[in-house]
Amino acid sequence: MDLYGKMAATQDSKQKESSDQNFDYMFKLLIIGNSSVGKTSFLFRYADDTFTSAFVSTVGIDFKVKTVYKNDKRIKLQIWDTAGQERYRTITTAYYRGAMGFILMYDITNEESFAAVQDWATQIKTYSWDNAQVILAANKCDMEDERIVSVDSGRLLADQLGFEFFETSAKDNINVSQTFERLVDIICDKMSDTLEGDAALATGIPSDTNAKLTDNPATPQPGDCSC
Ligand code: GTP
Ligand code: MG
Repeated sequence: MDLYGKMAATQDSKQKESSDQNFDYMFKLLIIGNSSVGKTSFLFRYADDTFTSAFVSTVGIDFKVKTVYKNDKRIKLQIWDTAGQERYRTITTAYYRGAMGFILMYDITNEESFAAVQDWATQIKTYSWDNAQVILAANKCDMEDERIVSVDSGRLLADQLGFEFFETSAKDNINVSQTFERLVDIICDKMSDTLEGDAALATGIPSDTNAKLTDNPATPQPGDCSC
């Protein structure tokens, strides 16, 4: 198959995956941060469990879909991987609208990427929904010898911005799924807060938001059937 055939086939399967209507909720998530901090690597680790040390800078924006389960609810995550390069900023910020959660990433070996976090946070405030939840991810924590940004400075900045904080490594698979799980949890918490009482019941928001998020459907238990 030639390159165009391959691209069409990929688009086709992506289209199929994303048009699957069989889910209880769909959360749109965005990964943002300076170029080369590891956004694409982070998404590939989470969605496909792969990692490559080659750097192919993202052009524009792309997404992957992953379905997770919380209680017996099927949650489809549409995860958008944005280009960090400045020249794509107009395109990428157009996708902030409607995003329920952000992973704002910097690289612990790159001071500039850490200094830019405040600007990224401002972009979120400017272009996204007020209730969007954010996790600050300090990536490449496997590179301890080249660390420039301390864990404490990362955590302090996250506290100041009101974000949760994780040190992560796409390479060594540290805190990758945990970051997504926590983001989904805080989005669910926010939804429950916003749609309290009857409204929440009517929309079927999970009441037990502390339940663990998994990749597998809940095993039906005897007596689960409501009929
Ligand atoms: P843009 O698409 O330009 O915005 O960059 P990006 O943030 O998507 O960065 P990308 O995922 O392409 O990673 C940049 C480089 O960092 C690549 O060479 C990756 O292999 C490497 N990298 C990503 N994550 C890690 C990590 O956790 N540890 C280490 N050691 N290297 C990483
Ligand atoms: Mg990228």
